[in-house]
Amino acid sequence: MSFLENKWWKQAIGYQIYLRSFYDTNGDGIGDINGIIEKLDYLKDLGVDLLWICPFYKSPMDDNGYDVSDFYDISPEYGTLEDAKRLIKEAHKRGIRIIADLVMNQTSDEHEWFMESRKSLDNPYRDYYIWQKGKIVDGKEVEPTNWASFFGGSCWQKDDITGEYYMKIFSKKMPDLNWANEAVRKSMFVMAKFWLDLGIDGFRVDAVAHIARSKTFEDSTMDSNEKYKPDWRKFSNLPKLHDYLKEFNHEVLSKYDVMTVGEVGGGAMPKEAIEYAGLNRDELNMVFNFDHNWCNNVWDLKDPNEKVVTNLPHLKDMFDKWQTNLYGNAWHPIYWLNHDQPRVMSQYGNVEKRILSGSMLATALYFMWGTPFIYQGEEIGMTNYPFKTIEDFNDVSVKNSYHIACVEGNQDKDRFIGFTAHRSRDNARTPMQWKNAPYAGFSSAKPWFHENPNYTSINVEDEQNNPDSLLNYYKKVLKLRKDPTYIDTFIFGDYEQVLREHPSVYAYLRSYEDDILVVTNFFDDVQTVSIEGLEVEVLLLSNYKNTVPTLKHLVLRPYESFVLKVKKTI
Ligand code: NOJ
Repeated sequence: MSFLENKWWKQAIGYQIYLRSFYDTNGDGIGDINGIIEKLDYLKDLGVDLLWICPFYKSPMDDNGYDVSDFYDISPEYGTLEDAKRLIKEAHKRGIRIIADLVMNQTSDEHEWFMESRKSLDNPYRDYYIWQKGKIVDGKEVEPTNWASFFGGSCWQKDDITGEYYMKIFSKKMPDLNWANEAVRKSMFVMAKFWLDLGIDGFRVDAVAHIARSKTFEDSTMDSNEKYKPDWRKFSNLPKLHDYLKEFNHEVLSKYDVMTVGEVGGGAMPKEAIEYAGLNRDELNMVFNFDHNWCNNVWDLKDPNEKVVTNLPHLKDMFDKWQTNLYGNAWHPIYWLNHDQPRVMSQYGNVEKRILSGSMLATALYFMWGTPFIYQGEEIGMTNYPFKTIEDFNDVSVKNSYHIACVEGNQDKDRFIGFTAHRSRDNARTPMQWKNAPYAGFSSAKPWFHENPNYTSINVEDEQNNPDSLLNYYKKVLKLRKDPTYIDTFIFGDYEQVLREHPSVYAYLRSYEDDILVVTNFFDDVQTVSIEGLEVEVLLLSNYKNTVPTLKHLVLRPYESFVLKVKKTI
């Protein structure tokens, strides 16, 4: 396949739905599939034509559905298989495709494979999971290795029935599948086919970077003070997984016109992304990385009340790294946040100037090349939640870390909560704010997770009624991205950063059939810049009421942003 070959997923505009928090239609306080069906017209009107829906399978919900106990059924609180079929049909009727979250790295400990596997050393399902004996150190049994889990503590859990340990790189209720076992791979492929045959248009492949692990279970020699070493290389981006993905592609994906986006997370570099998604690699179509998600001081705060400040030079470098290295080599998704990150409005925006800063952020991102994924609520500028106590959180990883740090350890509880409030994935998981009504209009009953109190001023209904709202600006952005005159440039144009050294302004040029310049002021003060060699032909979009600007002397008001068709003059 050539980079410039037109595929539906290169043109698509994606929207991620965290089902549990999207819209509840049956009054149990939990979002459901019928809730998505009811909001399809809203999504169509916004301009999206691809939905990524977080896991809807049967699950004990230890990690809100990433712990699957039955891959072939829908969790009852979300609906039924019939609802899922109706959703696919109704979405397709509106020209909207759907990708499911494919959870292949682990199951729930309540999945029948694991319940069998743990029964005895010779159970036929034993080898579906990764079991090891403990190690004896100084006469005492310890975990097989000193590797950490992403959710805190060890990545091994002792099981009393056989006295061995199973691997779990997330929570203890999420045992890792053993992809080295052919029977596991075949079972996953059959399951993927089941959903594709139902009409699903592809997958976001969860935690795909981890499906192969180091074959030798040796301690990490990483230099760190922690008891369990965060040595993710032991189970991330290992070469063997590419054989598995090629097999998956050959046996399943290649037989359908579908798209796949893998989650490869923090560790992967563009070179590795090209191994997953490169042209003619026959693995995945694109992969998510997290490089641009943390370009501020939230991990370096000395005090939880310190101001969060965007590190724009860092953010620019991250965008450059992916936009330039992948161009021509592998397709790429573009997104601000997902259900595992804080709200972008709180990360890089300005809550006090929500519409201006939110429209700037949308402009800065959604004219890059790649397939956009908007996260629910981003289009109205939803913000982080004001967490105050550990009880306010839901996330199993926060609870584990709190226990280790503040119950077993002696970290100050208030400071832990203060820092975690900035960083927690729970920020993205509060109910969608549909209107200024009880429970933010998300449900008629008390929601499973508290709504952000600012729903009174940040909600879809108010945004729909205000022509100058952030929601209406998002619609303009997405409409322009699909404008037949410019669509080829937006999809296939290359990317070149302009004003590279500027500390406050982010600007880039997209060139293909046309030249399109995007200029954004990331901060709350006025910037004056001069851009040489380009002349404005058409003002395509701006977040202020504007006339055609002059690039030689461009005065940018707080958060001011432009999309301009330009002509090269030299
Ligand atoms: C990545 C998912 O996005 C996250 O929410 C989940 O906790 C882990 N994978 C485990 O499946």
